[in-house]
Amino acid sequence: MAKTDENLKIAFADESQTNIEYLAYAHQAINEGLTEIAQLFREAAGAEVVHALAHLKVMDVVKTTRENLKEAAEGENLEIISMYPKFIREAEKEGRQDAAQSFRIAFEREKHHRDMFRQALKQMK
Ligand SMILES: [Fe+2]
Ligand SMILES: [Fe+2]
Repeated sequence: MAKTDENLKIAFADESQTNIEYLAYAHQAINEGLTEIAQLFREAAGAEVVHALAHLKVMDVVKTTRENLKEAAEGENLEIISMYPKFIREAEKEGRQDAAQSFRIAFEREKHHRDMFRQALKQMK
């Protein structure tokens, strides 16, 4: 893989992650009664989405809706059949019930997402 393609992946992941972190920071600021600081975090979070979307555009991963539905269903399915079951087992083994529970909640919802995407794909054909 060319260096730039690799860097795009890293930058996309970083911007996406930062977006969620800033939203969580904004939530915390609200809890502390710091509404103006919450606003700063929210504004920056919005900008990170713009950056992430711009990187994604260059990465050429957005295809037709039919292809995107297929890709999304496959991604959800991977989380269901391998990622989350493994993560839940490992968290339990390490006594991390908090993480196991968070993984379990996501795991259950991913099934709904996968089925939703598959259903939509079927209806398109
Ligand atoms: Fe950014
Ligand atoms: Fe999902």
